[in-house]
Amino acid sequence: MKTIDELLRQGVEGKRVFVRADLNVPQDGTTITDDGRIRAVLPTVKALTEAGAKVVVASHLGRPKGEPDPAFTLRFAASRLGELLGRPVAFAGDTIGSEAHAAVAALGNGEVAVLENLRFHPGETSKDPAERAELAARLAAFADVYVGDGFGAVHRQHASVFELPRLMPQYAGYLIVTEVGVLKKLTDDVKRPYVVVLGGAKVSDKLGVIDHLLEKADRILIGGGMAYTFLKAKGHEVGISLLQEDQVPACLEYLARAEKKGVEFVLPVDVLVSAEFPDLKTKAPAHPTLVASSAIPADQEGLDIGPETRKLYASKLADAATVFWNGPMGVFEHPDYAEGTKAVAQALVDSPAFTVVGGGDSAAAVRTLGFDENAFGHISTGGGASLEYLEGKTLPGLAALED
Ligand code: 3PG
Repeated sequence: MKTIDELLRQGVEGKRVFVRADLNVPQDGTTITDDGRIRAVLPTVKALTEAGAKVVVASHLGRPKGEPDPAFTLRFAASRLGELLGRPVAFAGDTIGSEAHAAVAALGNGEVAVLENLRFHPGETSKDPAERAELAARLAAFADVYVGDGFGAVHRQHASVFELPRLMPQYAGYLIVTEVGVLKKLTDDVKRPYVVVLGGAKVSDKLGVIDHLLEKADRILIGGGMAYTFLKAKGHEVGISLLQEDQVPACLEYLARAEKKGVEFVLPVDVLVSAEFPDLKTKAPAHPTLVASSAIPADQEGLDIGPETRKLYASKLADAATVFWNGPMGVFEHPDYAEGTKAVAQALVDSPAFTVVGGGDSAAAVRTLGFDENAFGHISTGGGASLEYLEGKTLPGLAALED
């Protein structure tokens, strides 16, 4: 993979550089609630502007349906990028239309323009390669060189990620170089004990990675909504907790395989339950009850791991040399159910291990719960992307940068 350093060595003054970023940030109306992904692309954009390139930044945001939708505009992300760069950033109100052409044509050396959401065009995410190729060709008209830096989207076979880099000289940006370097440490020559903490809502999202990690990890700790399908597989009743009944056989198989391979597979021993899902807007007190994970009442659902589990998981993390964590332990957005996720984050902070927080909700949780990002070895910007990398899959956006 050629990197941006090589491009900078060749010189980019006056060249139009297309930077595929992942500016898919959480927003509450016009307010960006976590700008981590925008900050993550700054080293690349700064290096290019300082070298005199004309920088065209493009990204997706959310999952609009292939047509313009104001709820998913990149306007606010573009203005945050400008604030963080400390220089004006032009924003084109369309992706390949007259505004985009005008914004790119107006770029002077060292200036930046952000195009509107790539997913406002059906070609970006289309299953039809010809449709994707058509959009890629239109995007290619904006640039002389491609820099891939949207790590969070490299697992997507999308026009701007997969087809576009093949149409011009292509390089990996600093974020992708860093992310891949970290993930390599989790796959090649990993330092042991290697402990993995997995949470989040659905077991089905994590099956591939569990399958792969059973061959790599020494210990796997499970929390979040997905824990209840494993508890069910162990023969416990889980009340009205999140349950993927159809995944019970897969969970059983994983539990059996873990035992055979000597991988410690740890499930919650106690959980906080309630008959109602908490109100995440008002954050009104939820008054949960603490029960053993084997005694969840029929009319209640588990919403966080309990204090015994918090202690147990902290002890299982204490001697780790490498930790990978993906997915919150409970409904951390509500203060009554945030302690489990906080405890795992704290255990990582306290650990001398090489700790990696894998994207998405867990990265947002770490920041919204007020942890210092620098206390972790690495906080990935890619949830799905880092999981698929750890599954050993070929990621289209990385493969395209190898060509
Ligand atoms: C993410 O949020 O994981 C990335 O931005 C990719 O988004 P997607 O899951 O909508 O493709």
